[in-house]
Amino acid sequence: MTIKTELRILLSLFVFISLQNQSLNAQQKTIGQKVDSLMNLMTLEEKVGQLNQYNDDWEATGPVTNDKNKAEQIRDGQVGSILNCMGTARTRHWQSIAMQARLHIPLIFGQDVIHGYKTTFPIPLATSCSWDLAAIEAAERVAATETSASGIHWTFAPMVDVSRDPRWGRVMEGSGEDPYLGAKIAAARVKGFQGEKIGGVNSVLACAKHFAAYGLAIGGRDYNSVDMSDRLLWEVYLPPFKAAVDAGVRTFMTSFNDINGVPSTGNRELLHDILKEKWGFQGFVVSDWGAVGEMIKHGNVKNEYEAAECAINAGCDMDMESRCYKDNLSQLTKDGKVPLTEIDDAVSRVLSVKFELGLFDDPYKFCDPVREQRELNNPEHTAQARDMARKSIVLLKNENHLLPLTKNLKTIAFIGPLVKAVKQNNGFWDVSVPGIDSSFIVSQWQGLENKVGKLSKLLYAKGCDIEGTDKSGFDEAVTIARQADVVVMSIGERRDMTGEAKSRSDITIPGVQEDLVKAVMGTGKPVVVLINAGRPLVFNYLADHVPAILYTWWLGSEAGNAIADVLFGDYNPSAKLTISFPASIGQIPVFYSHFNTGRPAHDDNDRYYRSAYTDLSIYPKYEFGYGLSYTAFKYSNLKLSRNSMTANDTINVTVTVTNTGKYDGEEIVQLYFHDLVGSIVRPVNELKDFEKIKLQAGESKTVSFAIDVEKLSFYNRDLKWGAEPGEFELMIGASSRDIRLKDQFELIK
Ligand code: BGC
Repeated sequence: MTIKTELRILLSLFVFISLQNQSLNAQQKTIGQKVDSLMNLMTLEEKVGQLNQYNDDWEATGPVTNDKNKAEQIRDGQVGSILNCMGTARTRHWQSIAMQARLHIPLIFGQDVIHGYKTTFPIPLATSCSWDLAAIEAAERVAATETSASGIHWTFAPMVDVSRDPRWGRVMEGSGEDPYLGAKIAAARVKGFQGEKIGGVNSVLACAKHFAAYGLAIGGRDYNSVDMSDRLLWEVYLPPFKAAVDAGVRTFMTSFNDINGVPSTGNRELLHDILKEKWGFQGFVVSDWGAVGEMIKHGNVKNEYEAAECAINAGCDMDMESRCYKDNLSQLTKDGKVPLTEIDDAVSRVLSVKFELGLFDDPYKFCDPVREQRELNNPEHTAQARDMARKSIVLLKNENHLLPLTKNLKTIAFIGPLVKAVKQNNGFWDVSVPGIDSSFIVSQWQGLENKVGKLSKLLYAKGCDIEGTDKSGFDEAVTIARQADVVVMSIGERRDMTGEAKSRSDITIPGVQEDLVKAVMGTGKPVVVLINAGRPLVFNYLADHVPAILYTWWLGSEAGNAIADVLFGDYNPSAKLTISFPASIGQIPVFYSHFNTGRPAHDDNDRYYRSAYTDLSIYPKYEFGYGLSYTAFKYSNLKLSRNSMTANDTINVTVTVTNTGKYDGEEIVQLYFHDLVGSIVRPVNELKDFEKIKLQAGESKTVSFAIDVEKLSFYNRDLKWGAEPGEFELMIGASSRDIRLKDQFELIK
């Protein structure tokens, strides 16, 4: 035996004894103490390894770097985390290699579980339209249960970027244009993913992304620069991130963009000063894919060495896929460019989370194939996906109560390129779980057959493709339309026309699909159009001529059943838009919570008083908060408990809502304010509360809201949070434009 080998054995023995002692004391020690003891044993290289995240070899969500010796690097303690690795067998494989490393530090596995794992839920923009926080949280619980059962510890969700530009492809991943609603939904999603407690076998770490301001990319082009005032950043773009921190989110992801010239991944003000210092975030920050190295292309650093220096010193703890940390951090520390304290802080954040997950006690805790099988085939998950999908469908138009359809129609024609599509229903960020094909996804045709296949004759024609100019299928479509009592048409985008790197300058309905609708409308038959998309589209012909329109977004694996439930009235649509739909592409960005200007655009005839277009109104086609039901709701009896308050008081607001129609239904009652005079200009209306209520036909309910000083506060000129004395207009609406009742109150000193 050589001296070297003997030394190695002695060292292993020492490590083994230390770890044994560590586990003997495990009960008494806090996570902080456990992290400290472990870090005392780590070399600088092993510390850097914890900050390095690699992609697995079989799927990629960014530009790939191939490593021939990935296994060796893991065995050598140079990798802390792997993404895009799915399934108990595969995660066990990599974990068992990590367990051969000197200190046996477990890997954590991350995955984009954006709208469900195997059971696919509607895209996040769609579920946000439910305004149903409990249902959203429950949906993420299902996603977390399946994800964790498949060996994965961490989802790169929720995406909480506010966005007001439907050209931006990633608008589908967020919760729309409003910071208040966005913050509520961010918290619900974090709670849903993380469950009662990190370390529970059904919980995964959530990740608030992309920090920050990614949603205001110039021109709606993905990855583009953002130039934004501090006021806008604090008032509109940061609140959902703060809400995620308050809800206990354990990880953050940086965004690809620069803000005012500083890339987010190297932005110390954002990552350190705001997130870690001001907000007290205790978890760790991962870069977006390759974003550390991409700073070289941004042009704020010269090479990978400087990129690593800039990112780690800014507070970015883990490097996803760029390899800048792995190749440079040790040298940077030796060169005195990166203080060891910076590395230690990052490593301790990563290790704390690993301890919290319970991976040091059992690195294979999430690798149980029996549980995996059970949870991936759990029928309760399917039922929840169907319910969430129904809650996400927005009824945009319903002339003469064409919907709901009766179940005894003799013949229904179902026309369009998306009728028989299967995988399309899952939207852009669905997960291709290894070994699972798409046969569990319910197509729209299948949904209709399930519902009325035995009662009605169903006819089908594709009519045309999603894209292209071929109209040769129009005749067949028109022929079957003539034979039908009602025509249902399913058109829209392809599922991969929205998503990452899927910005579009033309957001009208692609191809000749609108012409197909025109041709079918020529038959004089009643037509219902389903619009499938990941973003708001512009479709003025349909909006102005077709009697009934359902915006179905991408609804996930239960799409067909959910659509059939809504078409035939087994579910009364209740969703309302969380993002404004422009009347024209030239109107973008259009959003409800704008300022008044000195020449408000109220009167289109007065040439000096129209900050509008000469050829277009300022109003969107469908505004934030808009969405119809098969029934109708009357609002009455608005009462305020008082009309003035001090900062210590609360005003109670009550309003009666009555279901005046024939169907039971749900209504989202919205509370808006307008701060009439502020030291800086305030928006014409701002959502400050809402409640979703269920009312049987003929039933009335009283909805209450409490106004406190927090609801009246904003960031003033000096970016100080607080309320200013003065008058406020209070509005209760069925949408941001459909204001039903108003009153006024005053905040006094
Ligand atoms: C996306 C992130 C995603 C990451 C890992 C990036 O390209 O911007 O949202 O989490 O890839 O897949």
